[in-house]
Amino acid sequence: MKNQIKLVLMMVATFSMTLFTSCEKDFLQSEQSILDQYSGEKKPGTTVSRNALKMPTEVAPNGLSLTAAPGTSNLGGGHISDVWAFNGSFPSPTIRATSGSNASIVFQNNLPEQSIVHWHGMIVNPANDGQPSQAVPGGSSYSYNFPINQRAYLGFYHPHPHHLTGKQVYNGLAGAFIVNDAEEAALNLPSGAYEIPLIVRDATLDRSGNMEYKPKSGGFLGKIPLVNGTMDPYLEVSRAVYRFRVVNAANSRIFDLNLSNGQPFVLIGNDGGLLPSSSNQPIITISNGERIDILLDFRQMSNGSKIMLKDARSGWDLLEFRVTGNQIVNYNGPMSTTSSTVVPLSNPVVTRYFSFDGMNKINGNVYDMTRIDWTVPFGQTEKWVFTTNGNAPHPVHVHGVPFQVISRTGGRGQLYPWEMGWKDTVLLENNETVEVLIRFDAFTGKYLMHCHKLEHEDMGMMANFEVVN
Ligand code: C2O
Ligand code: CU
Ligand code: CU
Repeated sequence: MKNQIKLVLMMVATFSMTLFTSCEKDFLQSEQSILDQYSGEKKPGTTVSRNALKMPTEVAPNGLSLTAAPGTSNLGGGHISDVWAFNGSFPSPTIRATSGSNASIVFQNNLPEQSIVHWHGMIVNPANDGQPSQAVPGGSSYSYNFPINQRAYLGFYHPHPHHLTGKQVYNGLAGAFIVNDAEEAALNLPSGAYEIPLIVRDATLDRSGNMEYKPKSGGFLGKIPLVNGTMDPYLEVSRAVYRFRVVNAANSRIFDLNLSNGQPFVLIGNDGGLLPSSSNQPIITISNGERIDILLDFRQMSNGSKIMLKDARSGWDLLEFRVTGNQIVNYNGPMSTTSSTVVPLSNPVVTRYFSFDGMNKINGNVYDMTRIDWTVPFGQTEKWVFTTNGNAPHPVHVHGVPFQVISRTGGRGQLYPWEMGWKDTVLLENNETVEVLIRFDAFTGKYLMHCHKLEHEDMGMMANFEVVN
């Protein structure tokens, strides 16, 4: 069908250019509007027919085989795109486990290139961290086996081969890894049908409707949003309280989440699990690799109401909530009083400075897989200071253990409620200096720190360090 349109357009074009040159301008405009449909971009005022939000399947990590391979996916409304998918599904399956259990996962790489899977936010030894140096060629596998020994949190799993992470995540390999624990269970937060992962990203479609990746050194920005791999999604919700587990899985785009009716989110958690206390936030910034945990109360809304989850930066509509049904679903969990124990780190004995330079360097160095840039004594509390000489945003991510953000000076000049508690990724904007406290008290060995704007990471804004006894 699209090819036919293209053919007709080309014929009309040839014809009009020879005979009707005065019409050329009009024609070019109409061609442009057809091309806009292909990129997926919406003209303001266009009526959008919305597609049901796709839900990732849920799997357990014990005895999991996770195969990455090329496939296709319906992005909604019959828009079929080529994708790279874990276990054939786009969005990638949600992995869910309880703290104290074990993960044994065989990653089978059936991609036409090397890959390796990293469990972003998971506290594991280097052999299970899925680092670029561990990438296996297409046709090979890598076995992971690790105990899950950390508090409840929302993790993010994705490939991590050097130079190829941006492409592989873009093509569809990115999922949520949810860990539950007893402290969280005691709160009675929404669960089951009322707990929903939202994998938020962007994409650009080519003329045949396939997701197209043309990286730019400043970072790839797609023309349309995808939530759980769905274009223009809607979600039917009951008159109930929902818990949304949001992952920014975009290569470079940062979202300022807000709701069309001005209702605030109840922010209860972030990268490293539940916050010390919850709060109401009308707008939440989430950069690449960051996660947020929010509650939304639809109980006071009537059957048929619609609320849009939006991004204030792009003006995009991300996800339409359609309140369906009259009956109010009983909820006994907390709304504004969730709390959780986060013991603050204090008294750092060493301060290290890291400058994120240009688009591919940390402290003047481009990533070298074989070089260890600094060593960190096991168990020592340190202050790490992140600054940039420009080309921000740089979402700074550290493997190995989470950290606590203690200050931001310059730029936005403040910390935000979603930056409290435990973090593994923190947003560094131009002119900002961000200080964090960190203590590697889990494992020794080699880990990574990098910019999570995937194009910067792939160009080498990444470093190895080693935790030593
Ligand atoms: Cu989510 Cu080293 O990355
Ligand atoms: Cu990570
Ligand atoms: Cu960067």
